[in-house]
Amino acid sequence: MEEKITIVGAGSWGSGLARIVSDNGYRVMMYDIDPMIVNEINTNHTNKSKLPTGCLNENVSATTDMAKAIEFGDIIVLVVPTAVIRRALRSINQVITAKKLFVNASKGIEPDTYKRVSEIVSEEISSEYIEGFVALSGPSHAEEVIKQMLTLVTAASPNLEHAQKVQRIFSNQSYFRVYTVCDLIGVELCSSLKNIIAIAAGIIAGLGYGDNTRAALIARGLVEIARIAKALGAEEKTIYGLAGLGDLVVTCTSLHSRNYQAGYKIGSGKDLEQALAEMTMVVEGARSAIAAHQIIKKHNIYAPIIEAVYDIIYHKQNPQDRISEMMQYDLKEE
Ligand SMILES: NC(=O)c1ccc[n+]([C@@H]2O[C@H](COP(=O)([O-])OP(=O)(O)OC[C@H]3O[C@@H](n4cnc5c(N)ncnc54)[C@H](O)[C@@H]3O)[C@@H](O)[C@H]2O)c1
Repeated sequence: MEEKITIVGAGSWGSGLARIVSDNGYRVMMYDIDPMIVNEINTNHTNKSKLPTGCLNENVSATTDMAKAIEFGDIIVLVVPTAVIRRALRSINQVITAKKLFVNASKGIEPDTYKRVSEIVSEEISSEYIEGFVALSGPSHAEEVIKQMLTLVTAASPNLEHAQKVQRIFSNQSYFRVYTVCDLIGVELCSSLKNIIAIAAGIIAGLGYGDNTRAALIARGLVEIARIAKALGAEEKTIYGLAGLGDLVVTCTSLHSRNYQAGYKIGSGKDLEQALAEMTMVVEGARSAIAAHQIIKKHNIYAPIIEAVYDIIYHKQNPQDRISEMMQYDLKEE
């Protein structure tokens, strides 16, 4: 296995991805700002604060030295929360000395700029060091991947060869299978917007609604994702694929979803700050809701569920009042 893999962000998903590529025989180095995590990975091959069950392979090492980490990998996998992605990329740009293929596995859109991670990479990394960019996304909770449970995702890049390279490196014949698509915009948008719908799914569960409501939310949420993604250039087939419908279903139905958990706390009466304070892991949907709200206004898109999530978390609107209000809307065709 000639390529070496650097994973920036040794959290839950960074550890899941490290497990996959090291199972596939590649040498892996993880980078994190948290020395406790780095030390635990190097000494015990575990990451208990992020993934209480499962372990990493012994050939996975970790470091807090960005220069060492970036020098090591031919492929740089980004898996930090999107709130810190610019900061991480600036640190990378200070130490990078050779062309690398960037793979992003984080899921979010930047508030105010509405930038996707591929766009942020182009802005923060000198072009001479970017071999290409691939987004790796789909229904993939780290808690299941670390236990080698069967998972399918998609690798997206306008350059099919780059997507195929990532497909080859991450796929195996036992539990992890990667498809390719060229619709990078669609994959980046779907994987970010679905987290907002997951917060809504948590809210309705916290309020005590059942399976009928959740199924309706997934169906109507997908329509809103499609409206926004298509307005920004996504292809229809991406919306119904692994990074669209696939990821939406898993995040709206699984207790592993942080966005669902945060929504559940809000539906149970907590505000966003209280809900986030109780979470040890990242809730990307709250941040993406700001970007989605701005995109919706700019492009005049009808997306009542996403707007409701935005108003509930940022204007502290009562979730039950908002649902009652939505039930009064004019009846219409589906
Ligand atoms: N957890 C999952 O199952 C999963 C699956 C698919 C995608 N994702 C996405 O992956 C991204 C990361 O999620 P996660 O669940 O792994 O989060 P996490 O909170 O478990 O881990 C984030 C890690 O990033 C590190 N970090 C923070 N700032 C950093 C910086 N400036 N440089 C380097 N490292 C830094 C933290 O110390 C932490 O270890 C999110 O965008 C999430 O949506 C997560």
